[in-house]
Amino acid sequence: MQTVGIGHQNFEQVITKDIFYIDKTRFIKDWWESEDQVTLITRPRRFGKTLNMSMTEQFFSVKYENRGDLFEGLSIWEEEKYRKLQGTSGGASGALFPHFKQGIRFWKI
Ligand SMILES: Nc1ncnc2c1ncn2[C@@H]1O[C@H](COP(=O)(O)OP(=O)(O)O)[C@@H](O)[C@H]1O
Ligand SMILES: [Mg+2]
Repeated sequence: MQTVGIGHQNFEQVITKDIFYIDKTRFIKDWWESEDQVTLITRPRRFGKTLNMSMTEQFFSVKYENRGDLFEGLSIWEEEKYRKLQGTSGGASGALFPHFKQGIRFWKI
C-alpha cells in the first residue's frame, strides 16, 4: 500500500519507499526544451519546488547514472531521448543535444 509522505523532499526516497507521488516528471522535458540559461521558480511554500529540484537533479546528475529505475513508469521515461539522457549531465558529448547546457547547477532557497 502506498503511504502519503509528509515532508519528503528527496525524489529517490519518495520513489524507492513507494510514497504517493504525483507524476511531475514532465517538468524535466519542459525545462530542458526551454533552453533557458537560468530558471527561477517562484511558487508558494509546499508547492513541491524542493522535490521537483531533487527530481531534476537526480535525472541529470552523473551521480545517478544508471538510475533509470527511479523514472520507470513515469511520463519522462516514455521517450527514448530522455531515457538516454538520464544520468549523463545533459549528454556531455553534445552530439545528442545541440543545446548542451554547460553544467547544471541548482540553488535551493
Ligand atoms: N509531485 C508530488 N507528489 C506527491 N507529493 C508531493 C509532490 N511534490 C511535493 N510533494 C510533497 O509536498 C510537500 C511539499 O513539497 P516541497 O518540495 O517541500 O515544497 P516546497 O519546496 O515548494 O515548499 C512534501 O511533503 C512533498 O513530499
Ligand atoms: Mg522547499
